[in-house]
Parts: sequence; C-alpha cells; structure tokens
Amino acid sequence: MHELELGSKYILEGEGLKVFTFPAPILKKVAIEVKSFDHELHKTVKNMFFTMYKAPGIGLAAPQVGLSIRLFCLDTEFERERVTAADGSEAFKYSNFNSEVFINPKIISREGEVVCQEGCLSFPGVFEDIKRSETVTVEYQDLNGETLTTKAEGMRAICIQHELDHLDGIVFLEKLSPLKRALIIKKFQKKKKKRGSLG
Ligand code: CO
Repeated sequence: MHELELGSKYILEGEGLKVFTFPAPILKKVAIEVKSFDHELHKTVKNMFFTMYKAPGIGLAAPQVGLSIRLFCLDTEFERERVTAADGSEAFKYSNFNSEVFINPKIISREGEVVCQEGCLSFPGVFEDIKRSETVTVEYQDLNGETLTTKAEGMRAICIQHELDHLDGIVFLEKLSPLKRALIIKKFQKKKKKRGSLG
C-alpha cells in the first residue's frame, strides 16, 4: 500500500464521522490497545481520514470520533484549494497527500523543546501556544500490524505528540497553566452555547 495513493482514495471514498468536541467525556478517557488489524479497522481509518481532510485538520485521533482505541491519522503536508465546481457551487481540490496512520504508538525518545501554536478539531476556534519536544522517535504499528519506528521533527513531531495525548485522555489545553486553561475553557463554552453546536 502506498501512502500517497491512500490519501486521495480516503478523501474520495470515506464516510464522514461525528467529531466530539470538548467537554465530551470520551476525550478524557484512556484509549485501549488495538488488537485486531481487520477489515473493520481499515474501514475506521478510511472514514477517519475522510473526516480529517474534510474538516480540514492535519491530525485526528480515534477518541475524537467516539472510538476509545489507540490510533490516530496524520497528514501535515496535504494542500487544499478552494475551487468553483461546474455548477457554480464551492468545492475543494486536495493535493500533495502524505497520509500516515499510527496504531498503538509509543514515544521511545524525545529531544529539545519548541513552542508552537496548536489547534484541535475538538476545540474549534481555539489556538494556543503549547510547549512540546522538538523531535520524537515513535514506535507504532501500521494497518497490517507491522511494527515500525519513525523519527519526527517540525510540525509532524508536534502533531504526533498532540494526537498521542488524545489517546491518553489529554487535550492540548492541559499543557497550559490551570488559570489560563480555565479562562480559555470558559470562553470556549460560552461561544459553544451561543452557536448551539452539539458534540
Ligand atoms: Co486534537
């Protein structure tokens, strides 16, 4: 399976999943290990990519779509362009896919420190500077259950740490001071009530 081919396939063929937003209890749960690498898992991953690209987001963890299992999808490279379809409606053209799936991931080493602005599909409209390791080495399994290791840097490293936190029931705002976190959450919930959005 070639990752680049997977990307375009996911965006064309998936099914949109509901993304749970804070304070959904599932976001606080520690997810369980993936044990069977079956058709069901492949389908889940495909739908997660579809949901992620459509949002659009650069990462999506299974608990965010209501599944408390240890896996997340990532693509820090794809590009999305707004285009007008033949019938005049708005559409998006996607390119430069680099779809990656991390199943049962573990960070086995980390180096350096970096501060970067992060957002999260479970906190729409919230962007905050978060401190993370600059590079991480991750051991994980792919869709076939094979164990792989990768060293990540830049946006990819930040994203891996953000998504891995989701598997442990940690949302990115928990990396902030309690006071700052409380303020942001209060503001977010006020806005959410106004919008009347669910999740
Ligand atoms: Co997130």
